[in-house]
Amino acid sequence: MRPTATYATVLALFSLAVAAMAWSALRPENSPGHALATTTSAAFSDLAAWFRSGPADGQPDWEAAARNVYGADASHGAQLMILHGCGACHTIPGVTGADGSVGPDLGGLADRAYVGGVLPNEPGGLVRWLVNPTTYAPNTAMPDLGVTEAEARDMAAYLFTLRGE
Ligand code: HEC
Repeated sequence: MRPTATYATVLALFSLAVAAMAWSALRPENSPGHALATTTSAAFSDLAAWFRSGPADGQPDWEAAARNVYGADASHGAQLMILHGCGACHTIPGVTGADGSVGPDLGGLADRAYVGGVLPNEPGGLVRWLVNPTTYAPNTAMPDLGVTEAEARDMAAYLFTLRGE
């Protein structure tokens, strides 16, 4: 987004927050206006915290942001990897019983540039790999395991937490 558009959006959201807070001030405690103002001010303190907690060099961690799998549940992903038996072939830090050595060790996966050497290691690429590895690498030893896209998103969220030392 262009910087001016970003400022305009932030300004618009801020005006909305002020309007919502003013509105709630005129309403009884448990009105919908009060709930909206509470949610909006919570969102603003999150935003402020995000700006404050940026790295010391002042640059936001864009790479980590790009690896964020929105709406996915990483701990559910870890359980799914037990269910699908990924650990028979892979060593996966933090996943019970996952100590296989048929495929690559998935520790430090977040630092890799490619998945299976064929797809870019970003959420879309990783999810596609987990759902249909043989579509992207026809001769791969990793089988299609009947993983759904939703399951793959949860597993990808977990795998992106695995950074090298
Ligand atoms: C039968 C063994 C086997 C099973 C089961 C298996 N994989 Fe794999 N996996 C492999 C092999 C072999 C590769 C290397 C593929 C290649 O590079 O062509 C691989 C590659 C990968 C990669 C890419 C790693 C990299 O560094 O590029 C990921 C991620 C992955 N597997 C995750 C999973 C997950 C999650 C599961 C469970 C849903 C799973 N695998 C189940 C054998 C397996």
